[in-house]
Amino acid sequence: MAKMPKTPLKPETRLVTAGRDTKGQHGFVNPAVYHASTVLFPTAEDQVAHRARYQYGRRGTPTTEALEEALRALEGEACAGVSLMPSGLSAIATALMAVAGSGDHVLVTDSVYRPTRVFCDGVFKRMGVETTYYDPLIGEGIAKLIKPNTRAVFVEAPGSQSFEMQDIPAIATVAHDKGAVVLMDNTWATPLYFRAFEKGVDLSIQAGTKYIGGHSDIMFGCVSANAATVAKLKDTVHALGLCVGPDDVFLALRGLRTMAVRLARHYHSALTVARWLGSRPEVARVLHPALESDPGYAIWRRDFTGACGLFSIVLKPMPEKAVHAFMNELSLFGMGFSWGGFESLVILFDCTGYRTATRWAPGGPTLRIHIGLEDTGDLIADLERGFAAMRAA
Ligand SMILES: Cc1ncc(COP(=O)(O)O)c(C=O)c1O
Repeated sequence: MAKMPKTPLKPETRLVTAGRDTKGQHGFVNPAVYHASTVLFPTAEDQVAHRARYQYGRRGTPTTEALEEALRALEGEACAGVSLMPSGLSAIATALMAVAGSGDHVLVTDSVYRPTRVFCDGVFKRMGVETTYYDPLIGEGIAKLIKPNTRAVFVEAPGSQSFEMQDIPAIATVAHDKGAVVLMDNTWATPLYFRAFEKGVDLSIQAGTKYIGGHSDIMFGCVSANAATVAKLKDTVHALGLCVGPDDVFLALRGLRTMAVRLARHYHSALTVARWLGSRPEVARVLHPALESDPGYAIWRRDFTGACGLFSIVLKPMPEKAVHAFMNELSLFGMGFSWGGFESLVILFDCTGYRTATRWAPGGPTLRIHIGLEDTGDLIADLERGFAAMRAA
């Protein structure tokens, strides 16, 4: 923006104003989408000296800079830099590689997004990094798992299927005392509802495929770093040659402008549907940390200012065919991975097979639900039809 107000802006306003250079864009509101690899230097002297604002497409264009700047403004003062990644998973893997290498040890929450585990148990292990999974509810007890070579503690709150809440400030205090950095997958709350840097996180990751994109049509991720970690992050990203296609960068920037209003709607609609589900005789438990009945509620209230559209339910024990009948009957809930788009989703999941530090025994079939931007009355009517089919199966 050409003129900026003098008073500090709220995150919702920064989402609208940051990363805009109207004058540089001939008055247009949004940046041009630069499809670019080669950048030409005007003279031999400039080429030899690498003298140019932009030198090569992979290293940044006005489009990628606009998005980085907007994400940085959203994170707030403590954010020293943002790197754009081709997916949420590549953002997680790159952030981990930025802070740990051969001979190092990392601690990862047992509730972590499963592909993060696959990275740690596969590529990271082959690189010589040892991973220990810990109970997500460990809090300051993390101290007893920290070894002299522990470089990083990875947190994710809540877990994106099982929804345990973590005491991130307590974990971060211990990690920092012992010289380890804290990485967080902040996709669920986004920086709008969880101020990661203010709570002790050093590298905050988002799968931008979810709420930043918001329309289920891009693959994108990002890592925001504080001053202590930004150089390592940038070095790793440049060495790996990671960059994002310009159209996805543009769509991420466009999504970001409306993220606050979409997220507020997801938050309130999901709570309405979650409360309704909690009253159903077929449902044993609703796993949603913003519900007063949830074991994670106290931490959510203390550390978070909102929630998104994603939560899980535990059904009372029933045959699989009854659960399938419920899912097959739904017409407003698609069955598919990912979340954060405008549409509602449902998936059947089971964490039993891969947890190593804690036992997953919810006592019945578990469904993960994403509440989209539809009318909640329509969604509840659809779910009611699903329960009728479940009873009939
Ligand atoms: C919590 C969480 N983190 C990261 C990812 C990975 O994001 P992407 O699919 O963009 O690689 C996902 C995807 O579902 C996720 O749910």
